Amino acid sequence: MSERTPMTLPRLAEMKAAGEPIVMVTAYDYPSAKVAEEAGADIILVGDTAAMVVLGYPGTEPVSMDEMVMLGKAVRRGLDTALMVGDMPMGSYEASNELAVQSAQRLVKETGCKVVKLEAGGTSVERARAIVRSGIPVMGHVGLTPQTATALGGYKTQGKTAQGAIKLFEDALALQSVGCFSIVFEAVPAAVTEAIVEKLEIPTIGIGAGPATAGQVLVYHDLLGITTGRTAKFVKRYAEIHEAMVGGVRSYADEVRSRHFPEPDHVYGIEPAELEELRHYLDQESLTSQKAWDWEPLP
Ligand code: KIV
Repeated sequence: MSERTPMTLPRLAEMKAAGEPIVMVTAYDYPSAKVAEEAGADIILVGDTAAMVVLGYPGTEPVSMDEMVMLGKAVRRGLDTALMVGDMPMGSYEASNELAVQSAQRLVKETGCKVVKLEAGGTSVERARAIVRSGIPVMGHVGLTPQTATALGGYKTQGKTAQGAIKLFEDALALQSVGCFSIVFEAVPAAVTEAIVEKLEIPTIGIGAGPATAGQVLVYHDLLGITTGRTAKFVKRYAEIHEAMVGGVRSYADEVRSRHFPEPDHVYGIEPAELEELRHYLDQESLTSQKAWDWEPLP
């Protein structure tokens, strides 16, 4: 594993102060966590985008706490130094402060994540306060919040009007005031982000929010080109892994069908004398004429 020291919240604050960009990426299982860790990401988010990119749901709403816990445990096993953030799925925190604290504790205890993330302002601010007071650090999330995308009018850029941007600023300020250590800004005009983050003390992480945030986050499957079909404007693809994977499996299928696989390098050997003894045994007339129902288990 790497020589890096574990990422901490003070270190993130220092990075923001020093203007050192923070790299955050999602991961949903052991291999993606290993890749993100090896690539040097500072923060790994076990995001509820898992609902779509891993579990095949149409949105993030259906993913359950049990599913997030299962994915989070796998991610933990692949991490070494990056800060692991557990995303709180829809329904796990909105109803009451008690529910929010219980859910956050479950994520931390069962997955080994160090901090949690929840979406939106409004009542989420109170939930964030309760979780922070229980001793678990919280990352906020404003702008386009997919769990409540329907109420926001769909998967749309947020803060495009002065009033919308002011509301976004107020949510971010409120989340900071209750102790959130960082806030994700999603799908916000770059100029709005720039104007708002100047007024915040904590590090912000952008996704489709321009370059002014202290760090950036992208969804693992989007940036690697594992996601197929249309992706958001803010996604930059750094690889085309889906095509490479389909190509690999297709080549395997072709070679099986044409009997080019397995090759001599892929098979196990046996000592000739042992093989000869086996053949001799199998050649016995009595063995091949024996009926299946003659067979009796050993005592
Ligand atoms: O769930 C997720 O992956 C997220 C990121 C898009 C920030 O919330």
